[in-house]
Amino acid sequence: MSIHTCPNRWVIETENTAYAFGLNSAGLITQHYWGVRLPRLADYPIPADPAGFASTDGFDHFIPEEYPGYASTKYIDPCLKVIFSDEVRDVVLRYLDFSVETSPNPTLTIRLKDVFYPLQVTLYYRSHPDYDLIERWVTVENLGSEPIHIERFFSAKWTLPIGDNYFLTHMYGRHTDEFNLQREALTPGLKTIESRRIIPSHRAAPWFAIDRGASEEAGEVWFGTLAWSGNFRISAEVTEFASTRVSVGLNDWDFGWKLQPGEPLTAPASISGYTKSGFGGASRLLHAYVRNQVLPHGQVPHKILYNSWEATLFDVDEASQSALAEIAAKMGVELFVMDDGWFHNRNFDNAGLGDWWPDEVKFPNGLGNLIQKVNDLGMDFGLWVEPEMVNPDSDLYRTHPEWVIHFPTRARTESRNQLILNMARTDVQDYIIGVLDKLLTENNISFIKWDMNRAASEPGWPEAPGDQRELWVRYVWGVYRVWGELRHRHPNIIWQSCASGGGRADFGILRLADQVWVSDNTEATSRLHIQEGYSQYMPAITMEAWVTDWNEGVVPLEFRFHVSMCGALGVGGNLLNWDDSARDLAAKCIRDYKEIRPIVQLGMQYRLISAQKNAYSALQYVSPDRAEGVLFVFRVHIPEKYNLPQIYLRGLDPNAIYEVEGYGERSGSGWMEAGLRVPLKNLQSKVLRIKQV
Ligand code: GLA
Repeated sequence: MSIHTCPNRWVIETENTAYAFGLNSAGLITQHYWGVRLPRLADYPIPADPAGFASTDGFDHFIPEEYPGYASTKYIDPCLKVIFSDEVRDVVLRYLDFSVETSPNPTLTIRLKDVFYPLQVTLYYRSHPDYDLIERWVTVENLGSEPIHIERFFSAKWTLPIGDNYFLTHMYGRHTDEFNLQREALTPGLKTIESRRIIPSHRAAPWFAIDRGASEEAGEVWFGTLAWSGNFRISAEVTEFASTRVSVGLNDWDFGWKLQPGEPLTAPASISGYTKSGFGGASRLLHAYVRNQVLPHGQVPHKILYNSWEATLFDVDEASQSALAEIAAKMGVELFVMDDGWFHNRNFDNAGLGDWWPDEVKFPNGLGNLIQKVNDLGMDFGLWVEPEMVNPDSDLYRTHPEWVIHFPTRARTESRNQLILNMARTDVQDYIIGVLDKLLTENNISFIKWDMNRAASEPGWPEAPGDQRELWVRYVWGVYRVWGELRHRHPNIIWQSCASGGGRADFGILRLADQVWVSDNTEATSRLHIQEGYSQYMPAITMEAWVTDWNEGVVPLEFRFHVSMCGALGVGGNLLNWDDSARDLAAKCIRDYKEIRPIVQLGMQYRLISAQKNAYSALQYVSPDRAEGVLFVFRVHIPEKYNLPQIYLRGLDPNAIYEVEGYGERSGSGWMEAGLRVPLKNLQSKVLRIKQV
């Protein structure tokens, strides 16, 4: 039902939206609708015919081709650029045929072929009706006997209705300052968000939202993301004819691929949607999709963890970790994670990476005693690893210096004293699978924090079978293979994706990782900003958030807890320095969190007052059945006298009666339309339970 195939036209429907495209009279597949689902097929516009304007412009500047190759007079940002074996660089694609599969999700497949060369392009469209999302990806295949060089290979081009006054929202950042929201007018030209670092990076998030006047809870938003954990590119192009398109895919910066005869190449999935419910509506669709369709354990709330990094840094041993574990267990922590410093010769960040066995000095009897101790205290045990890396001062590097990404004639630039193993190589992949599998098999480990702490440099691969630049893609495939294999062998382990904080937060890694370490910045007021940005595309269940000692003495412990309780609560402070009253407060917050955990981690999230824009902010979660909710309110610093804004709740059943803790009973409508005032002093916070009566 959700894919209609009129002759030479296709309409992909979700519960509330539709995306329509088809062949025009010139035989080109063009897009002609993306918006609200319409009652009748005849309601959708028909594909536009090419019409000339002036000899200086090709028709692609006003007619949106669905998947344009670079050819002819197309000066727009194309999706595909290739060089054929005779040096011809012109891709003339024509429609071949289509097919539809209905299960597990309705999927439309359209085949195109170059009119002369043996290059086949297959476009895939999968509808996710319940989430109002459409997933697109593409495969190119070389059907000939000579290699074809690919220079650009995007996953999708998404076209918006003709017109101007669009705004693009995206996110930028840096280490310890990720996910800053930026909304800017789209004007003729190209605006690109990208990564060139081998991970999506802190610099930009693989996400976009386009609106023409939407608010948090109302108005049209076209949005999307790329399920890819490497170099990505999202480009919004406005042509001189007010046609706006967003291209999404692998970054073509330093990209090259030698497509061998008979070889296919598949681009990662671009997932996009349309909503009339504003930015919040867009986020909730993505959140539900991630929980239900992407995450390995999306229905199981995470345990409250303690992580020892900020308490002990590299100085870990059985005694120091046991002391922390004892306090953590008393506070109600459920999972104890030992961070960096536990493995062979790892006393600082200048040695050890690559040698993944317990340090003989710190753990002369292995990890068994500590794990047993943690388990006896009633907690699971977790461990930090950084599998893609190697320190030059390690047994692994001394044995295999050729295993790192490098150019033979260039110095190997170290960053944090480390080099990157070439995960594109199967011998490297097999080594990591072997050494980590042994670790996980021999020890009762329930959780792994998988870190990745540097960006690529000198991206060479001397033994590459094809074009060395394939490294950017094959590296990510290598990470997926290693992680996927370990997941497969150890299916109950919970994995966290960390890349110096939020450098690798994308829908590709979420098929492997259950959660993300969002930032190395654990200061609570900064964290409010970072968490709000992250929530644009990622659900709270994936957002690991520790309470630490940053800004202690300034920001109250309760405030720090409340901020972390907005995601998957964790603790990362030095518990040895916490006095009894701090430990008691922590125990109380942990008890409270256990009660609201299913609402936060599995519920719908409403950003009521933005923390990135205001010093007084509010965030609400509502259980899927709308019977319960929780309201978080934070005030950072506002000079007195200030009239604090009204807070209007969201997501409640308008006719049901709800009690808001300390505020009495009213109908859902009452709370949503009349709102409530929550007075707070500077650096105060409140968590209020909401219950249907
Ligand atoms: C990175 C991570 C931190 C911590 C350290 C350990 O910086 O983001 O959380 O694990 O590495 O070296």
